[in-house]
Amino acid sequence: MSLKLTLFASSPEALAELSLKLPHADDSTAVSSALGSVSALALEIERGRPDLVVAQTAPLGDSELRQVESALIASPATSMILLSPERSPEYLIRVMRAGVREVVPTPLTNGELTAAYGRQIERVLAQRGGGRVGRVLAFLPAKGGSGSTFLSTNLAYALAARGQRVALVDLNLHFGDAALFLSEAKPAQTIADLAREASRLDPTFVESSMMPVAPNLTVLASPDTPEGAMDVTPEAVERIVSILRGRFDFVLLDMGRIIDAAGVRALDQAEAVYITLQLTLPFIHDAKRLLTLLEKLGYARDKLHVVVNRWEKGGEITSADVHRSLGVTVDLEIPNSFAAVAHAINHGIPILKSAPKDAVSKALRKLADRLAPAGAEERRGWFGLSIR
Ligand SMILES: Nc1ncnc2c1ncn2[C@@H]1O[C@H](COP(=O)(O)OP(=O)(O)OP(=O)(O)O)[C@@H](O)[C@H]1O
Ligand SMILES: [Mg+2]
Repeated sequence: MSLKLTLFASSPEALAELSLKLPHADDSTAVSSALGSVSALALEIERGRPDLVVAQTAPLGDSELRQVESALIASPATSMILLSPERSPEYLIRVMRAGVREVVPTPLTNGELTAAYGRQIERVLAQRGGGRVGRVLAFLPAKGGSGSTFLSTNLAYALAARGQRVALVDLNLHFGDAALFLSEAKPAQTIADLAREASRLDPTFVESSMMPVAPNLTVLASPDTPEGAMDVTPEAVERIVSILRGRFDFVLLDMGRIIDAAGVRALDQAEAVYITLQLTLPFIHDAKRLLTLLEKLGYARDKLHVVVNRWEKGGEITSADVHRSLGVTVDLEIPNSFAAVAHAINHGIPILKSAPKDAVSKALRKLADRLAPAGAEERRGWFGLSIR
């Protein structure tokens, strides 16, 4: 596959140095360069329409950022990585607003540039030739027992049942149990096995380490020992999620309660974070803290969704109260249905299969429908037969 790469630096020496730090480009990569001023870079982007730009610059001023922005608007398929000594949050926001995809701090340290480069190449590949850029959805419990695992695993099944290719990743590294919710089989491999062989991480290796649990649905299990959990590095998590995005329509993340460095690397790639809670005060209290933390981590409010689980009519606290207290609209209410949910979990069967008419199944199907509307690729015919 041919790839157009543009390198930019302020001087020929800096450019030579930059090219040495990047992975070796093979014959299929056409490399162009721009030197000196940001206007030269902007011109090269508009003229050459590269797939990827790697630029090393001093902090950019407003007018320079505007030039970068209009060049990236003119060439929307271009991904840009900026190497920058300036890392203040204000600067990062301005740079990202201009359309830069990644900012790598300089002086460069342990493989950050290589990782960013790899991510952006994968993105380019995924966008090409009908490749996939899967949608990453994360489920985060406001408090233990909110229902994140139940909802993420069962939504994964609902999406798969609609013909979407779905990967579920159990990122509750110390206490993960997602595989149990979908199958009685014990996973042969876990995310720790992948993380231990970081240098081999490629799509084939990742997929072969997952457990298929239903048509279109496969699960990457969490480690089964505390040592295993310790082996899972943030870099491995980032790479695994990024690989899966290139291979599946949806990547669902079942997160633990603690957001650590590995969790952040996964959340960074999520288009939506579903915070699950129940309608009692302690859940709302913790959801508030979690929202504050997520905002501090730089996630935009519109990426954060609140899901009320175990919703019951006539409850003392309502979703409107949650909205008032958290300042975020409740995106979804999943009804309470203890017996049907407990039965499904105890038997490792998705509720859509064990109790398709249950209100919880209906709510999950509705959400799956919202996320992957039918019609584009499938129509319902007489007697519910699907016509492809
Ligand atoms: N909609 C529901 N109706 C009734 N019970 C439910 C519902 N959703 C979840 N539960 C119950 O809540 C329990 C906890 O759910 P789950 O394990 O998914 O929570 P979690 O947020 O993943 O918790 P943890 O913090 O342990 O990972 C389940 O075992 C199930 O019995
Ligand atoms: Mg859980």
